[in-house]
Amino acid sequence: MDLTQKKKEADSIISKFLPEESGYDKTLVQAMNYSVRVGGKRLRPILLSSFAKMYGAREKEYTPFMAAIEFIHTYSLVHDDLPAMDDDMLRRGNPTTHAKFGEAMGVLAGDGLLSEAFTIMSHRVTAAVATDLVAGIRAAQAMEIIAGKAGLNGMVGGQSLDVESDKAGRDITEDEIDYIYENKTSALLEASMMSGAYLGGAESEDIDLIRRAGSALGRAFQIRDDILDITGDEKTLGKSVGQDAKNGKSTYASIHGIEESEKTVKSLTDEACGYICKLSGVRDEEERKFVLELFGTLTERNS
Ligand code: IPE
Ligand code: IPE
Ligand code: MG
Ligand code: MG
Ligand code: MG
Repeated sequence: MDLTQKKKEADSIISKFLPEESGYDKTLVQAMNYSVRVGGKRLRPILLSSFAKMYGAREKEYTPFMAAIEFIHTYSLVHDDLPAMDDDMLRRGNPTTHAKFGEAMGVLAGDGLLSEAFTIMSHRVTAAVATDLVAGIRAAQAMEIIAGKAGLNGMVGGQSLDVESDKAGRDITEDEIDYIYENKTSALLEASMMSGAYLGGAESEDIDLIRRAGSALGRAFQIRDDILDITGDEKTLGKSVGQDAKNGKSTYASIHGIEESEKTVKSLTDEACGYICKLSGVRDEEERKFVLELFGTLTERNS
C-alpha cells in the first residue's frame, strides 16, 4: 500500500470513530468533527498502523488507537491556534476551529477530542481484557504510552515552554529548543510508533530503538515546519506563513538559518532511519520499507 492509499485508509478508519452530531451539544460535536475532517496528513495514525502491522497486530487491535492519536494531535492543533497561543486563523487549508465556531467552542472542541480519545482507548482495553489477557495488556501499554507522551512529560509540557519562551524577549538556549521540540512534537510521534509496536508485542530493545527514531524524526519534522513557516507557500501548506516571526518566536530555523537547518533535518532523518534498520523483531518487511520511505519524503515535504 502506498502513502495515498494509507492516508485514505486512515481517513476512513478515523471517520468511523467520530461522535454523532445531535442533541444539545451538537455545536460542540460539529466543531470537533470539523477539526478532524477538515484535512491533515494523518501522519501519526499512518505510523501507528505501520508499526502495529510490522509486529503482527490485527486490525481491530490497532484501529481504535489510530483514531485516538489523531484526535489528540488534532486537539493539540485546535488549542495551539487559539488567540491565547499562536493566534492562527488558517489550518489544514480552512478557517481554524475557533475562527469558525468561536473561542469557547475552540477550547471545548479540544477538550472533547482529548476525552473522546481516552474513551476510545479505554473501551478497547476493556474489550481486549474480556477476551484475551495478552491483547489486554498490550492495549493498556499502548494507552499508557499515549497518555504519558500527550501530557506533562510530552506535548503539553513542550507547548508550555514554547509559549513562555515567546514572551521571554531573548533567543532561547539550545537546551530549551531541545526540550521544546522533543516534547511538543517528537513525543506524539514517538507515542504513535511505540504504541503500534506495543500492540504487536515488540520486545523492549525494539521499543527503545523506535523511541529514539521517533525522537529524531520529530525534531527533524519540527525544524522542517519552522523552515516552511519562513519559506513555505500558504496555499500548499494550508496554514499561514510568517507566524513564528509575528509571534516573536525564535525557532531552530530562525537561529541557525535555512541552509544549516536543512542539513540538520537530513541528518536527523538519517539517524531515525538508522534505528529502524536495526529493529530485530520485524515480521512484515514491507511495512519497514514503507516507514523508511515515508521518513525520507518528510525531509523535503512542503505541506
Ligand atoms: C503540525 O503537524 C504541528 C507540528 C507538530 C509541526 P502536522 O504537520 O502533522 O499537521 P497535519 O496533521 O498534517 O495538519
Ligand atoms: C505546534 O508547533 C506543535 C503542537 C504541539 C501543536 P507549531 O505551533 O509550530 O505548529 P503549527 O506551525 O502551528 O502547525
Ligand atoms: Mg505553537
Ligand atoms: Mg502554531
Ligand atoms: Mg509551526
